[in-house]
Amino acid sequence: MSFLPKREVLSFEEIETIASAFVARGVTKLRLTGGEPLVRRDIVDLVSALGRHLGDGGLDELTMTTNGSQLARHARALASAGIRRLNVSLDTLDAEKFRAITRRGRIEDVFAGIEATQDAGLQIKINMVAIRGTNDDEIEPMMVWAHAKGMGLTLIEGMPLGEVGIDRVDSYLPLREPSRPSGATVHS
Ligand SMILES: C[S@@+](CC[C@H](N)C(=O)[O-])C[C@H]1O[C@@H](n2cnc3c(N)ncnc32)[C@H](O)[C@@H]1O
Repeated sequence: MSFLPKREVLSFEEIETIASAFVARGVTKLRLTGGEPLVRRDIVDLVSALGRHLGDGGLDELTMTTNGSQLARHARALASAGIRRLNVSLDTLDAEKFRAITRRGRIEDVFAGIEATQDAGLQIKINMVAIRGTNDDEIEPMMVWAHAKGMGLTLIEGMPLGEVGIDRVDSYLPLREPSRPSGATVHS
């Protein structure tokens, strides 16, 4: 991954200005994503500022897509700021595979984050990128796991995002393949 120089990254004031302009012109749903939104310092302040548009302010929903690693410490504040639903990106339930996919992540942090988020009363949807040869054997178990915890699961086809160090042609798993379990939501 090569990241933008800091001066080119939108400041919170700029994000708020742009988001407010969209809401004033009729946008009713905002989703914060990234990068990883929860590693930005003072992210809760931004969520609170955007949350002021909820209700009579014209915004119906404020959501976030996160890798879940920082959720345990932010879940309650996000709920207080007006978030009701979150997407958590999780491609495997296996700690070793998780570390390999994310390069340094600890799956226990994501599990703790999911628990804290549910305790705070938020709904969660899991986003799972299907990767041939890595997690194609986990599609059904992850669906069962997610549903047992009252969470939805969306399967996503892999797209060329950044350098991943594996052959994308080999790892690409088209979700129209007949082996896909029935009932999966497909984003392609
Ligand atoms: C790029 S992430 C950014 C937000 C946050 N850091 C996270 O991990 O959710 C946003 C979404 O893209 C998905 N995603 C990540 N890598 C992808 C890939 N190679 N192809 C398709 N979707 C991908 C994730 O599952 C997540 O739902």
